[in-house]
Amino acid sequence: MSNSVKSFALLFSVCVLLLLPVISSVLSSEAEEDQSLDERVRSFLDSHRNSWRDMNVPESDGKVLYDLIIKNNYKRALEIGTSTGHSGIWIAWALSKTGGTLITVEIDEWRYNQAITHFKEAGLSEYIDARLADAHELVPELKGTFDFVFCDADKGWYKNYLIAVLPKLEVGGCFTAHNVSSRRGRRQYGIGEFVDYLESLSNMETTYDQSSWSGISISYKKSEK
Ligand SMILES: C[S@@+](CC[C@H](N)C(=O)[O-])C[C@H]1O[C@@H](n2cnc3c(N)ncnc32)[C@H](O)[C@@H]1O
Repeated sequence: MSNSVKSFALLFSVCVLLLLPVISSVLSSEAEEDQSLDERVRSFLDSHRNSWRDMNVPESDGKVLYDLIIKNNYKRALEIGTSTGHSGIWIAWALSKTGGTLITVEIDEWRYNQAITHFKEAGLSEYIDARLADAHELVPELKGTFDFVFCDADKGWYKNYLIAVLPKLEVGGCFTAHNVSSRRGRRQYGIGEFVDYLESLSNMETTYDQSSWSGISISYKKSEK
């Protein structure tokens, strides 16, 4: 080995030795941050478990949304119907792990403000862009693209939300809707019309999750057309 190669190898080894503590401290502080966010969200969810009174999803449905995002590594999420933020917390918690963000829309000012308070308390504000707006107007204006959508606002408008969002949903992305059951008898308030339309689309593959009484439709976009 020539002298210059030896010197380079020596210099390289010294640099690695010097940098090791820095690298390991950066990695461990990131792990600590993840852990402390998890603890904060869990403690928020535990303390609010029995206090969701504003048409919020049950915890089991929150978990369904969380798992879908993690499983598919989704990063650009849209929620229609924030209310006071229960589903938003589950969605944003999952996005904090995939490196994503959520846009969530609510028309009622009091619920919107409550949701903002809840997002802060859970430590998830940086993952959430909460909008106080009429989703009938805002959703068609949003640029996208999205890879995950949770629709949970006025049921009679679900079909219109789907039509507005589909061109902005990536292939492989997922459109989910709350209070949609596989059982026809439970499809009220215009949900039947939404399901008929959804099932007529050859590029959407739909299943129904019945973890809770409410039900969630889960539709994957298989191709552009
Ligand atoms: C079932 S709640 C949403 C619950 C929420 N996803 C949760 O689990 O915490 C439906 C919400 O949609 C809101 N909403 C209804 N019509 C809307 C519209 N046109 N634009 C925006 N929000 C709307 C209602 O004010 C209500 O807070």
